[in-house]
Amino acid sequence: MTTKVSIDGLIQDEAAAMIPVTDRGFLYGDSVYEVVRTYGGKPFALTEHLDRLHQSAARLSISLPEGLEPISRDIHATLDAAGHPESYVRAIITRGSGPIGLDPGLADRPRRVVIVAPFQPLPALWYDEGVSIHLVVTGRSGGPTLVAGAKSGNYLVNVLALGVARAQGAHEAILVDHDERVTEGATSNLFLVSDGELLTPPLSAGILEGITRHKVFGLAAAAGYPVHEKVIHRRELLSADEIFLTSTLREILPVQRVDDQQVGSGCPGPMSRRLLEEYRVAALA
Ligand code: PDD
Repeated sequence: MTTKVSIDGLIQDEAAAMIPVTDRGFLYGDSVYEVVRTYGGKPFALTEHLDRLHQSAARLSISLPEGLEPISRDIHATLDAAGHPESYVRAIITRGSGPIGLDPGLADRPRRVVIVAPFQPLPALWYDEGVSIHLVVTGRSGGPTLVAGAKSGNYLVNVLALGVARAQGAHEAILVDHDERVTEGATSNLFLVSDGELLTPPLSAGILEGITRHKVFGLAAAAGYPVHEKVIHRRELLSADEIFLTSTLREILPVQRVDDQQVGSGCPGPMSRRLLEEYRVAALA
C-alpha cells in the first residue's frame, strides 16, 4: 500500500511528490494543517477539521479565495486514489513560494498538499495498560501570541519537548508553562479525573481546541459527567485518579504513569474506559 500525495490537485506516489525549496511552509513553518483519520474508509469529523483549517488560515492571514472546496476535493480524490482500507490524512496549506524573506507579502499563492498514508493503529496494549507521559517545562503559552489557537506548521517547541519525553521512555510530552500550569501534549489534549470531577485545561492556557477534546465534552455530558475547564497545576496531575490524552490518532488514550509516578490504581480507570468505548461507537456510527 503506497502513500499518495496531492499537490495543488496533482496526485502522485509519495516518492515523486515534490514542492519547491522556497515554499514558506518549508522555510518558516508558514503553513496550517490538519490530521484526519478514516473510520470505515470515511474521513471522521471532516467538517470540523476543515472548519479549523479555515480558522487557522484566517489567523495566519493566509487568504483562500476559493474557500475550502479545493482542499476538500483533493482529500476525497487522494483517498480514492490511495484505496487503503483505513487512512491517515494530512491536509496542509502553505502560504506558498516566493523570493526568500520573512515578509508574507512575498508569497505568490497558497499551496495545497494532501498526504494519504495507510492508517497504522496504535498498539491495543496501550489502551489496556495506559501509556507514560513526561512533563516538560517549555514556558509555552499561546495566549498572547499571534498564532494562538491556530494549528500552524510551526511545531518546533512540541518537537523538542517530545524528543525530551522520548529520551525518558515516555509516549508523550506534556507541556508545562513557567507557572507550573499544565497545558497540553505535544500532539494531544489532556484530561484528568480528580475527586469524581472530569477536568481539562481551558483554551486560555494557549492550547489547541482539539476536535477529539470537543467530542469528549459531548460524550461526558451525555454520560452525566460534565467536563470542567480549569487551570491545572503540575501537582494536581500527580494526585489525579485518572488521566487520559485525546487526539485524532489516539482517540482516548489512558495514562498509566506521570514520570516515575503511577496514576491512580495503575490501570485505566472507569471514566477513561467508558469514554473510549463510547467514542469508538460514535466514530463508527
Ligand atoms: N495533533 N494539541 C496539539 C498541539 C495537537 O497537535 C493536537 C493534534 C491536539 C489534538 O487535536 P485533535 O483532537 O483535533 O486531533 C491537541 C494532530 C493529530 C497531529 O499533529 O498529529
